Amino acid sequence: MYQRATMSHIQPFEIDLYGRSFGVLIAADQIQERVADLASQIRSDYAGRQLVVLCVLNGAFRFAADLCSHLNDSTEVVFTKVHSYEGMLSSGLVQEQLPVSSQLAGKHVLIVEDIVDTGTTLKFVMERVYQQAPASVRVATLLFKPDALLKPLQLDYVGFEIPNRFVVGYGLDYDGQGRCLNALYVLKEE
Ligand code: XMP
Ligand code: MG
Repeated sequence: MYQRATMSHIQPFEIDLYGRSFGVLIAADQIQERVADLASQIRSDYAGRQLVVLCVLNGAFRFAADLCSHLNDSTEVVFTKVHSYEGMLSSGLVQEQLPVSSQLAGKHVLIVEDIVDTGTTLKFVMERVYQQAPASVRVATLLFKPDALLKPLQLDYVGFEIPNRFVVGYGLDYDGQGRCLNALYVLKEE
């Protein structure tokens, strides 16, 4: 009971960021259930193989952390940091702020993204990863906006397909705010 009361406090139905209103799209417990499902699929697909999780910062930090909490103890975790979104739109340009670690040769790499929107960021990260001749590359993304995708991309593990609307929460931000929210929120029609 106490936990429920706490949840309703930290998972408001509606939030305001920089004067814009957002409503709940995916509740915190639904996210956690789906992350656990994806992790169990990943555990079974990689059984007997050493896995390297590549977390794409900043947005994927929460998804990657929760996913890892269900994965094998021997899982390695590495990071890259890229930036492409300005406000609520993709700039179309990807800036690499922390390069992909150069220790992926011969490894089984799982790229972990928060969201695939136009696909520009993921394509950029995949090219960087393939340059290192890994043994295999797969992609896990919590969110996917199929209507925004510009070029076809293979997505191996998808948490939720969502409409082509701006979302925040659970790692995703609106100009730096909203990452600490435990649910996912969508911008209300203005
Ligand atoms: P692209 O268009 O390259 O976008 O697939 C991927 C990156 O842009 C960010 N992104 C978003 N961030 N709400 C956000 O807070 C969104 O609706 C959204 N769409 C894309 C995100 O960092 C992602 O990695
Ligand atoms: Mg991102």
